[in-house]
Amino acid sequence: MATADEVGGGGGGGAGVGAGDQVRRAKTAALFLAAVALPCLVLYRAAVSPAGLFLRPAALPAPPRGDVDPVNSEEARLERVLRAAAMANNTVILTTLNSAWAEPGSVVDVFLESFRIGDDTRWLLDHLIMVSLDLTAHRRCLQIHRHCFALTTDDGFDFSGEKNFMTDGYLKMMWRRIDFLGHVLAKGYSFIFTDTDIVWFRNPLPHLHHDGDFQIACDHFTGDPDDLSNSPNGGFAYVRSTSATAAFYRYWYAARERHPGLHDQDVLNLIKRDAYVARLGVRIRFLSTDLFAGLCEHGRNLSTVCTMHANCCVGLRRKVDDLGLMLQDWRRFMATPGSDRHSVTWSVPRNCSMKKLGRSVGANALTATGKPQIR
Ligand SMILES: *[C@@H]1O[C@H](CO)[C@@H](O)[C@H](O)[C@H]1NC(C)=O
Ligand SMILES: *[C@@H]1O[C@H](CO)[C@@H](O)[C@H](O)[C@H]1NC(C)=O
Ligand SMILES: *[C@@H]1O[C@H](CO)[C@@H](O)[C@H](O)[C@H]1NC(C)=O
Repeated sequence: MATADEVGGGGGGGAGVGAGDQVRRAKTAALFLAAVALPCLVLYRAAVSPAGLFLRPAALPAPPRGDVDPVNSEEARLERVLRAAAMANNTVILTTLNSAWAEPGSVVDVFLESFRIGDDTRWLLDHLIMVSLDLTAHRRCLQIHRHCFALTTDDGFDFSGEKNFMTDGYLKMMWRRIDFLGHVLAKGYSFIFTDTDIVWFRNPLPHLHHDGDFQIACDHFTGDPDDLSNSPNGGFAYVRSTSATAAFYRYWYAARERHPGLHDQDVLNLIKRDAYVARLGVRIRFLSTDLFAGLCEHGRNLSTVCTMHANCCVGLRRKVDDLGLMLQDWRRFMATPGSDRHSVTWSVPRNCSMKKLGRSVGANALTATGKPQIR
């Protein structure tokens, strides 16, 4: 999302906002050519993202048309998992998982570990639902977590297509997520959506704005939570379930048709000032990068941080390495006596550093716009 979005992430890169559709299409095309040409490098979030892996044959098949099995329909399964995981005020935590991130020792393990070693975060695992985007991820989820939900593909999705299809499918999956989250809101559940490459060190709930219906983390925070020119990163968002937020998600989802080829986050940037959104009365708030931090931008104070996102990072291995370092930093912080804690700060980015990126990944990490894709 925004300037520093990971490729293929929960939100598109905002870097291109304002650029023409052609540039965007070229960007997407370049990205996928690269992903196809360099499959082993796993450079792109597309290649490692829910969207990317969703395209594999192991993706969960949609139930046959006309399936009305009342017990196992997607709707019934969703209802059950939401009920089981919700807090008393119908709030859940949602993340999406694909097979690469679900592998042992990969992103999901670091993610879960952070809840266990964080300050007042372990109990939040009881309210976390992992939304699997393929069968492998779902199987792993069932082994390691209580609340798993397998999101199926929509009917008519053609898995036999080729390159164009990949581009299509990639965006389709991102939009499927927005559609899904809107559905959760419409069912009366508020949520925190978190990408899995975010470590949780403190319970974010007490640090959310009490008057915000839609609160979203930022790649870059201007300092003003109400400032619509903040660069949102959809990897972390709190959304209160109201009729207005449900309508807002419907509007956002529908807006993809007016902006073909764009990621959800790009489109969010394009619609956030729309008169319709203002009329809905959704109170939009942006979250400070001091508390909801990321590699793109973060404070130095581990006494205040709630979450840390491995955004601004290209490549799954690098990401996992830096996420591991974040856990180490936190452990070091917790093991330090109170009076000395101010001396402990982040040792990241290390592998995710942009300098390294330029040197060792070079042009392969650059898009048609010349900007690294680094959500
Ligand atoms: C929902 O409940 C949790 C757990 O008690 C609490 O921390 C959170 O602030 C509540 N959310 C709202 C919007 O009241
Ligand atoms: C870090 O945050 C804590 C808690 O908000 C605060 O008490 C402390 O003064 C901060 N340290 C620095 C160096 O700003
Ligand atoms: C990350 O950096 C460390 C230290 O520079 C290095 O040993 C390791 O191989 C790097 N990992 C990746 C995936 O580049």
